Amino acid sequence: MAEKVVLAYSGGLDTSVAIRWIKEKYKMEVITLTIDVAGERDLASAQQKALKVGAVKALVADARETFVNHFLFPALQADAIYQGRYPLATALSRPLMAKLLVDTAREEGASAIAHGCTGKGNDQVRFDVSVAALAPHLKIIAPAREWGMTREETIAYAQRHDIPIPITSASPYSIDENIWGRSIECGVLEDPWAEPPEEVFQWTRSPEDAPEEPCYVEVGFEKGTPASLDRRELDGVSLLLELNRLAGMHGVGRIDHIEDRLVGIKSREVYEAPAATLLLIAHQALEAMTLSKEQLKFKQKVASEYADLIYNGLWFSSLHQDLAAYVQSTQRYVSGTVRLKLFKGSCRVVGRKSPYSLYKHELATYDKGDLFDQSASPGFIHIWGLPVKVQAQVQPEGQPGT
Ligand code: ARG
Repeated sequence: MAEKVVLAYSGGLDTSVAIRWIKEKYKMEVITLTIDVAGERDLASAQQKALKVGAVKALVADARETFVNHFLFPALQADAIYQGRYPLATALSRPLMAKLLVDTAREEGASAIAHGCTGKGNDQVRFDVSVAALAPHLKIIAPAREWGMTREETIAYAQRHDIPIPITSASPYSIDENIWGRSIECGVLEDPWAEPPEEVFQWTRSPEDAPEEPCYVEVGFEKGTPASLDRRELDGVSLLLELNRLAGMHGVGRIDHIEDRLVGIKSREVYEAPAATLLLIAHQALEAMTLSKEQLKFKQKVASEYADLIYNGLWFSSLHQDLAAYVQSTQRYVSGTVRLKLFKGSCRVVGRKSPYSLYKHELATYDKGDLFDQSASPGFIHIWGLPVKVQAQVQPEGQPGT
């Protein structure tokens, strides 16, 4: 009996060609798994297509809730943003997909898993490392890394074998999407001087065309997790879908930057992440009100480590477990509401409140009711400034600006 392989199947050109190519090259039976992470794909037609192209079985998994609650919201609590720009939509989906591929391989008695990543990107690393961590006995097949075909040759292969070519393959862009954002690469975007053409954006209006009136939105958080929108309680998936629509309509969440891939290359990346952008801004604003200065400072370092480990494919590492425990602990009092104003591409925090707010009006005010003891300040400053005063007297040379 032929060995079985579970292929992560998107319905796109590469993974469709992969079904046929694996059968030919490895003589294995291909089971496809299409994973719903709330991107905008037609899952039923992907399933039919997989069978038509030659899969022995075509499975679909609804992973939306797991993705939101166990991957996206923990990353939001950590404020994980790679290189200060990328909210990690694609990167966060890979370990979840790896987990589901491994589960399916176990259920189906498969000896390998396969994915459509090339040998140049981060996604291959994320899949391979995650699978190795979860099921080291499974072999990994990466057709697009192995076959050495150019895009034209892949299309020709598809034509030769009667594999339907999706219309999107006519587009020069490589796109990956899920509910946390869309990643767009290739085509004219490879010229870092070229402005991204309007056609690459699907979820966001151009700020120029966004409504002339600003829109206010209130996000309620419970222990660092978004729980309501404009005082309406919503489950995570609905909340994200609604925020993608709303923030996208106001042109919020377009990102264009030069990113450092793990494999050592710089690449020009364009993202649309309306809900993620808004929520990261809102969450940080609530933390600014409910965490101490020292917690905020330390947490920023953790955020940067956390983002790196997600980006670099180390989701299933012990370091992640440790950092996740720390992040959870920081979120105990991150509950409250943030009010944001969306207007022509900008998303600004204009209000925040929390039952655990560390902001005390009676300490901050310059008006009546001030409880801050100003007479204590000179003594504090005397001690605080003592080492500076001493050093400036003993070692006076080389001070900036003198
Ligand atoms: N640069 C991003 C990342 O590494 C996006 C990758 C997009 N992947 C894709 N197959 N188009 O996470």
